[in-house]
Amino acid sequence: MRIYDIITKKRDGFALTKPEIDYFVNGFTKGEIPDYQISALLMAIYFSGMNEEETLNLTMAMANSGDLLDLTKIAGRKVDKHSTGGVGDKTTLVIAPMVASVGIPVAKMSGRGLGHTGGTIDKLESIPGFSVSLSEEKFIDNVNRINIAVVGQTANLAPADKKLYALRDVTATVDNMSLIASSIMSKKLASGADAIVLDVKTGSGAFMQNEEDAICLARQMVAIGTGAGKDTVAVVTNMDEPLGNAVGNALEIHEVIDALNENGPKDLMEVSYVLGAFMLKLAGKTDTLEEGIDILQAAIENGSAKSKFKEFIEAQGGDSDILMNPDLLPKAGIIMDVIADTDGFVSSIDAKSIGKASLVLGGGRETKESDIDYSVGVVLKKKVADRVERGDCIAIIHANDKEQLKIAKNLVREAYRFSKTPVPKQKLIKWVVTKEGITKI
Ligand code: URA
Repeated sequence: MRIYDIITKKRDGFALTKPEIDYFVNGFTKGEIPDYQISALLMAIYFSGMNEEETLNLTMAMANSGDLLDLTKIAGRKVDKHSTGGVGDKTTLVIAPMVASVGIPVAKMSGRGLGHTGGTIDKLESIPGFSVSLSEEKFIDNVNRINIAVVGQTANLAPADKKLYALRDVTATVDNMSLIASSIMSKKLASGADAIVLDVKTGSGAFMQNEEDAICLARQMVAIGTGAGKDTVAVVTNMDEPLGNAVGNALEIHEVIDALNENGPKDLMEVSYVLGAFMLKLAGKTDTLEEGIDILQAAIENGSAKSKFKEFIEAQGGDSDILMNPDLLPKAGIIMDVIADTDGFVSSIDAKSIGKASLVLGGGRETKESDIDYSVGVVLKKKVADRVERGDCIAIIHANDKEQLKIAKNLVREAYRFSKTPVPKQKLIKWVVTKEGITKI
């Protein structure tokens, strides 16, 4: 086999076979095929596309290129949950203790944040003492003992994807649906779960800004999961405004504590209940979504989700006193209100600008190497459809640097749009995609 022939075949619009895909993925991962040839192939894929079978074969080749997490030592069906990333998206941290508290094992590998969206691992690391690096043995032992463990991705998880993504990033070939779907799913498949629930975000703060693209990505990922023998459901959810009120690592943990104390923002709870209920369904605990939502609501109301979160924090070395006293979380030195200069109704809040405000304050990473300030961020006091009067506080900025505060304040101001007339609340759960098709709930 020659890489030159594979490039030519794809350039001319033909489908690649499994051996051809395995050949280029393995050759590139081992450093035997140079970047310039894989760059040409990626551009050929970008223009010629890949069919469902090629996309599945690419995913499997990348998933099998490194460590495969073996979760068979954990009893029961393991259901993973993944979000394509959004601003203020702390659903994993609400869902994981809820689901674990009703007897479903949560053995999760999560990523760090990059750019304007935050990562679960960074949020967890804002808890004093919390460790996201456990040995495989300890990870499995924690799940067997208390039903829950969340760790950072190992360096050798789908290394082919890591190399290919880095090349796509500098060759203008990120934006191809098959390449995105296979990249995300390769890491999910290598993480060893039996079933997968995907939250595909769409809107101003999401990777997929338009709804058709989000549906297309959802369909492709469900096809991959199904093709790989895993029950897979994708829920397309709105990310036109941040989810919940808090954006920033420790501020989001505070909001998770509120949620577990029955005090969570309505939008955060709605998405968390629906995704969690799909996890229960795929785990075989329930037959219907409604049944799952009832079980999860009860876990919040009777305090079992909160007790599970406490056990989880303690098992990974964190200070669980934050549950009683969230002031123990890292705190910013400057706290400043952003005041409305008009009357009306909030018509939109650009999620990306709020994410950028948190990034500018130091709460996110510009590059993979950047350090994070866990204490900073933005808390929204008004959301879309809320009535606002001139002089009201619309958001609170938590900062540690005056210059950064100034830039963040402008970004928050620019993010808000107002209308003189009432604005309807946006629909949060847009579509559910399964192997049977696409539905609304
Ligand atoms: N996230 C990924 O992991 N891969 C992509 O290609 C895009 C987003």
